[in-house]
Amino acid sequence: MSTREDALKKIIAHAKEYGFIFPSSEIYDGLAATYDYGQNGVLLKNKIKEYWWRSMTQLHSNIVGIDAAIFMHPTTWKASGHVDAFNDPLIDNKDSKKRYRADVLIEEHCAKIEQKINKEVDKAAKRFGDSFDREMYLQTNPRVVNYQQEIESIQQRLAKSLTNSDLADVKSLIEELGIVCPVSGSRNWTEVRQFNLMFSTKLGAAAENATDLYLRPETAQGIFVNFLNVQRSGRMKIPFGIAQIGKAFRNEIIARQFIFRMREFEQMEMQYFVAPGTEMQHYETWKQLRLNWHLALGITEDNYRFHDHDNLAHYANAAADIEFQFPFGFKELEGIHSRTDFDLKSHQEHSGKKIQYFDAEQNQSYVPYVVETSIGLDRMFLAILSTAYTEETLEDNSTRVVLKLPAPLAPIQCAVLPLVRKDGLPELAESIIKDLRLDYQVEYDEKDSIGKRYRRQDAIGTPVCVTVDHDSLQDRQVTVRFRDSMEQRRVSIDSLADILQQEVSMKSLLKKLTQATNSL
Ligand code: GAP
Repeated sequence: MSTREDALKKIIAHAKEYGFIFPSSEIYDGLAATYDYGQNGVLLKNKIKEYWWRSMTQLHSNIVGIDAAIFMHPTTWKASGHVDAFNDPLIDNKDSKKRYRADVLIEEHCAKIEQKINKEVDKAAKRFGDSFDREMYLQTNPRVVNYQQEIESIQQRLAKSLTNSDLADVKSLIEELGIVCPVSGSRNWTEVRQFNLMFSTKLGAAAENATDLYLRPETAQGIFVNFLNVQRSGRMKIPFGIAQIGKAFRNEIIARQFIFRMREFEQMEMQYFVAPGTEMQHYETWKQLRLNWHLALGITEDNYRFHDHDNLAHYANAAADIEFQFPFGFKELEGIHSRTDFDLKSHQEHSGKKIQYFDAEQNQSYVPYVVETSIGLDRMFLAILSTAYTEETLEDNSTRVVLKLPAPLAPIQCAVLPLVRKDGLPELAESIIKDLRLDYQVEYDEKDSIGKRYRRQDAIGTPVCVTVDHDSLQDRQVTVRFRDSMEQRRVSIDSLADILQQEVSMKSLLKKLTQATNSL
């Protein structure tokens, strides 16, 4: 097993053992690519949502939120282009009868070439030691340059054939690259064909009168169809944004890599409505703002990179992904798309209702252009969980597993632990919790030795533990222990609220984000 597969397996096992993520309907052996969030998972997920929601709607006076229905009028999906164009290229292996996404087979082939590059780089780094210049090596080593050119030319050809819907060429590419089925090892492929990713269902009790519906494959359309409602009722002036968090559904051909690609998932999307001709400037600004949002969490910059799309979706005139270094390599975490006026114009045509904005400054009406930011909540969860998971060997040679989560996102922000289960210590611990839980998720734990209790809190990422001992009854001081440094400090009970405010509050995180944004 590779180290990366090993890392993912450990994260999946840890997530289950500590109540973050369970396979859905596990007692019936689960349902492929569907997961349930457990008692700690839901808290972490809600914190990610809160950070996104507040940074969008609270920190921007011109962005408001909505919560649209999952069911939408079926014409919505005709207008949006999803009925005709929301397809993935599908290919089957005739020997194993396994089904694949043709583009993913090709991308995985490219990822293997990238692994060769990484190996060359690792070898050279060892050989040259401190004097190794990675960038220079990537630009000048002939073997590495050849590999990079190979990847580029494959990606360009794939993008071209997908844009032109030339599925025969996608198959030729698979054959030319000698890609084999990972299960049967054969090259006995079917033709490539398109597969629509929307789930359909019926609305209405009597089958003959039922209306065909789709489960929304993106939350964005709920925002587009409400553009006029929000703009008029909120007297919004362009540029302005509408944000939304909600479930989306896609019948993914292959859904794997844990919660990275699911059939039911959650999106956090914001559509920013701008004057035509200004969209590229807003697009660039939002790329930077979104990267800042990630970096404010304290996850290092080398985990992120931008990837500009070669193969643009039917609605976009520019698009980039923020890719994240997941345990299985750099993959899309978030998309920033310049969607032109495609959606509003198309809804205008299909509904027969005028969807325009009167711009008083320009003294004219127009269909606004849209820049959207779209991030998968579950992917963000995986990004945070996988970077947080740390195995440490301590000075005394013992080991600990600790989730070094961004403190304000931790499921439990503070644990209060009486040293023993008697002598009035539990009562004092409870009285401390009573105050703190008005602002924070606080846990009480009195079972097992204090060392074991610290390890349990480390494993779920609790940033601060407070230990109440016999002296606390006299001097009203407690021991505060910090998760990452394991530093312990004696402080007064009265100062706990201030310490938590500084270390774990959402306010401290939003402040950091604001400071980073102001210095742009
Ligand atoms: N409204 C634009 C849109 O939906 P997208 O790139 O198809 O764009 C946006 O999706 C984000 O949603 C992705 O960057 C990813 O984080 C998340 N996402 C997409 N498909 C997903 C899936 N099957 N499972 C989990 N997250 C997914």
